[in-house]
Order: sequence, then structure tokens, then C-alpha cells
Amino acid sequence: MTDRAHPGARHGPRPTAVSVLGGDQAWQGRPDPDQWKDPAVGIPRYTLNDGTTIPAIGLGTYSFRGDAGVGALVDALGAGYRLLDSAFHYDNEGAVGAAVRTCGIPREEIVVTSKLVGRYHAHDAAVAAVEESVLRMGLDSIDLYLIHWPLPRIGLYVEAWRALIECRERGLVRSIGVSNFLPEHLDRLERETGVVPAVNQVELHPWLPQVEQQAYHEAHGIRTEAWAPVGEDSGLRDEPVIAEIAAAHGVTPTQVILRWDVERGIVPLPKSWSAGHRRENLDVFGFTLAADEVAALTALGRAHRLFGADPATHEEL
Ligand SMILES: NC(=O)c1ccc[n+]([C@@H]2O[C@H](COP(=O)([O-])OP(=O)(O)OC[C@H]3O[C@@H](n4cnc5c(N)ncnc54)[C@H](OP(=O)(O)O)[C@@H]3O)[C@@H](O)[C@H]2O)c1
Repeated sequence: MTDRAHPGARHGPRPTAVSVLGGDQAWQGRPDPDQWKDPAVGIPRYTLNDGTTIPAIGLGTYSFRGDAGVGALVDALGAGYRLLDSAFHYDNEGAVGAAVRTCGIPREEIVVTSKLVGRYHAHDAAVAAVEESVLRMGLDSIDLYLIHWPLPRIGLYVEAWRALIECRERGLVRSIGVSNFLPEHLDRLERETGVVPAVNQVELHPWLPQVEQQAYHEAHGIRTEAWAPVGEDSGLRDEPVIAEIAAAHGVTPTQVILRWDVERGIVPLPKSWSAGHRRENLDVFGFTLAADEVAALTALGRAHRLFGADPATHEEL
């Protein structure tokens, strides 16, 4: 196991358990304040179409719940992550908020995301859901709030979008965007409200490179975020071409995939329960991929969704 594979090793020994909940509710991984000066915090940022900024890579948080989730999140923030994904649907806004409140990192450095769950697309329900998200996080506001899925058969996503616009005007959320929206859904939002989402978070990895979707985003000033960026546990990371490129650069296959996102201006949101993997995944700004290497990964595209959820039909309430 090398420092390259686990660059977190350069930070020295792991911090000891510290309880910030009190009693027996201790968790591992609270960072040493010196770690907050880690060069990894120098992650580049993109300016969104509303003038706010987000880091070029973030942390997926699905299944990060409870004390163990808070511990992983505090450790990730200490390692340099400043963009956290989350969702009402993940039942982890409490853990994400607790980590942000207790990590000791200035609040303004951190971009916290949540998403509107499908059952609350109707206007008043959507506003109440955003208010509830803010309460669950225990923060004054949420930095980026997305509509999780368009649910076109239910047909209320424009109403939900108007609710998010109002929540932004009230200061409950800073930036608003969507997730899993197809160009036809994005067109409708722009046509009917005049407000273009700052972000669209979509399934995106070398087996689903989303070239046309991203071209649409670029043409409309929407930043692309990638969910399942390293393909979960599908075997994507074992693709021989990725292994070859990784060997040529002295990095890991996962780092090659994440760098491919960075080269394309896409914000990947890898998730890992492993502190070493989290640091490895953040360490993708010290090398570049050549255009033909980027193209080789894009050529792995299979033109079908790995996880089966088609935004045209998927219903997640
Ligand atoms: N908007 C949406 O509809 C939507 C849908 C799905 C997901 N998401 C978001 O996207 C995030 C990421 O997607 P995901 O969690 O589905 O999948 P992912 O990040 O592509 O994959 C996570 C898996 O990859 C492994 N992994 C991560 N880094 C690794 C490394 N360096 N080396 C080896 N294995 C590594 C993890 O194992 P270890 O834990 O062992 O490292 C975990 O099993 C989610 O957590 C969630 O926040 C959004």
C-alpha cells in the first residue's frame, strides 16, 4: 500500500476519537486542526451561473447516517472536502449538518447540498420540505438545493422549481439546481420560469459518459455533477484501458476516472467509507490526462444507465 494509493498517509497518524455529542456518543476521525491547512483544501472552484462557487470535487454521502456518518463526514472535511452531497431521501441531513456545525471549519468554506424528495413536488409541500431540510441540518441555510428527480409522469417539477426559486429569494437556500433532468425537462424550466438551474447532477461515469447531456449543460451555463462517478461496485474500475492509463501516470484507476471528470469540467461526487479512499479520491489535481486518454475513457460508454433509473420514467417518492 503506497502513499500514492493512500495519500492521506502523509498527514500522519489518525486522530483519536472525540465526542461532540457528549456521553458515549463518540466517533472516530475528528481532524487535527493542522489538517485543515492541508494543501488538498486548495481544490479549484467553478463559478456557477448565479455567481456562487463550488469545489471541483465533492463527497457522496448516501448511507452516511448517524454517528458513524458524522465521523466519516468530519474526517472528510478534515481531509479537504468542501462540497458535501446529501438529500432529504437519504435521511442523513442531520448527520451532514452535525458534521458541518462541529468540524471547526469556517461555515462559508463548505458547500452543503440537499435535494427535494419526489413526494413533495407540489408548491407548499416543496417549501415545507426545504424548511424541514434546513431545520434538520441545523444550519441557517443550505448552499445548494436540487430537485432530486423530475418525475415527469407526476408532472409537478415546474411547480417544485418555482418553490425553490422562492426559497432562494427568502435566503433558505443559496443556489438551486436539479438532478436527473433530461434536456426536455431543463428546456421547460427555462421556458416557463426564466431561471436556469445552476447544476444538474446526473449518473455519469466512463460507462455512461453523458456527452450530449453535458454539451447541453455547457450551452446553457449549467454545471454538471456526476453521481456514481466511480461506478459503485460494478467492476468499472477493472477496465484494462483504465488500468493502463493509471499505470502510466503512477496513480490508481479510481483517480484516473475522477481526473477524467475534472478534465471535462464535471464535478464528481465519489462516496467512500474508507478514509484512505476518500483521500485518494481527492488527490487528483497533481496530474493531467492527455486528450487521447480522456477520449479512451469516454469511448468505454455503453449508452445505457448502469443503475437502471431512466429519468423519463423513474418515480422515487
Ligand atoms: N442524484 C441522484 O439521483 C443520485 C443517485 C445515486 C447517488 N447519488 C450521490 O452520488 C454519490 C456517489 O454515488 P454512489 O455512492 O452511488 O457511487 P460511487 O461513488 O460511484 O461508488 C461508491 C463505491 O466505490 C467504492 N470506492 C470509492 N472510492 C474508491 C477507491 N478510491 N478505491 C476503491 N473503491 C472505491 C466505495 O467503496 P469503499 O466505501 O470501500 O471505499 C463504494 O463501494 C452518492 O453517495 C450520492 O451522494 C445521487
